[in-house]
Amino acid sequence: MTDVFSIKDYNFPEGFLWGSATAAHQVEGNNIHSDRWYNEQKKLKKNSVYEVSGAACNHYNMYEEDIRLLKTLGHQAFRLGVEWARIEPEEGLFAESEAEHYIRELALLKENGIKTFVTLVHFSVPKWFSDKGDFQNLDNLKYFKRYLNYIVPKISPYVDFWNIINEFNLGLNEARLTHKFNSVIYHAKGYHIIKQYSDKPVSSAHALVQYYGKRQNDVFDRVMQQYKDIVDHEFFFHAMRTGELVLPGRDGIFDREIKDTADFWSINLYTREMVDSRKTDLSSKRYPFTETRMLPMNFYLDEFYPECMYHNMTRLKDKPIYITENGCSCNDDDFRIVYLAEYLCALSEAIKDGADVRGYLYWSLLDNYEWWTYIPKFGLVDVDREHDFKRTPKPSAFFYRDIIQNNGFSQEILSKYLKHMPRVDTSLPILK
Ligand code: BGC
Repeated sequence: MTDVFSIKDYNFPEGFLWGSATAAHQVEGNNIHSDRWYNEQKKLKKNSVYEVSGAACNHYNMYEEDIRLLKTLGHQAFRLGVEWARIEPEEGLFAESEAEHYIRELALLKENGIKTFVTLVHFSVPKWFSDKGDFQNLDNLKYFKRYLNYIVPKISPYVDFWNIINEFNLGLNEARLTHKFNSVIYHAKGYHIIKQYSDKPVSSAHALVQYYGKRQNDVFDRVMQQYKDIVDHEFFFHAMRTGELVLPGRDGIFDREIKDTADFWSINLYTREMVDSRKTDLSSKRYPFTETRMLPMNFYLDEFYPECMYHNMTRLKDKPIYITENGCSCNDDDFRIVYLAEYLCALSEAIKDGADVRGYLYWSLLDNYEWWTYIPKFGLVDVDREHDFKRTPKPSAFFYRDIIQNNGFSQEILSKYLKHMPRVDTSLPILK
């Protein structure tokens, strides 16, 4: 981390698109026909630390207010999910009223001049689809295709950017490898279906983790760093560029239908992860001296590492890039201000060095459900779940608004929101 008060003013290219991102299951609430909902109830019984999503941020009922918030905060784009489990709660049974709900939400965004990034699958799927083996099973393609042929033509007038499947690219074990191998095929099929109804750009959001050998001068760590990068990242970029799908432990395939099925790189990027060749799962804790704890818990996104923004953007110069997620989880909002100033600085450097980055969506608009807990706070806006889900924008939301208005960062803006560097409170207990 650099000293935020010494960062020089920087700007973004004209027309750069600014906004925020969400996922349906994490904000809408009561996604009762999804696999996630079902699994949450099961896990809760076993583990009391576990929280269920419940009413989440009640965005399903409060989307009008949230769109007003987006306007107040100056956002020009919004990433949201259209939830398959609501639209097809039972196999083959399509709920017209749910499709209409999304049409109303998307139409309102459009009326307000907000560009939409629509995610079709963001970790949650209908329970019935999961029972059939979801993306692990290529025989399920027929259900996915039928769903897309139902929903895509309905919402396509309101969608500016398509995101087919969120973050299927991570993981080394057998199940994950099958999942990602198949997901590329699902993605490619999805791409061609969407193209029948829409001329808007299509991609799938890619979780880009900067792998970092724990011992940078050790050949085993260096090779494993590269291995993880290939298996989690390069396989996807390569498949999109060439149509060739290469993953360990299986015969590679070449399919012309896969080639060029990403019109832009949709990149979700947070931090780095250490690679330790001496560990079975290849992962390691960060070095103590780089640990920046921002939460009263060990959380996997607990380090500021803006360098990853620069390194990873400059490897993707062949297509336009949109950052479809990047954000900071912290209780002390000052950290979020520092985070934004530093990550956006690294992003502006990458653009100067040739990366064609066209937009940035902060993760997330609201303090949302983080898949098993409400403890991490990523939001620009606080949500009081005890009191009618009252929304209160944090200072960082106004800092970000000023950056948007100025299309860049300046020390003058920073001085309005940050008086001194925040300190990590190391006395806070660590939740295991
Ligand atoms: C996911 C989000 C998640 C965020 C923070 C991303 O990998 O797409 O759903 O909330 O990271 O953990």
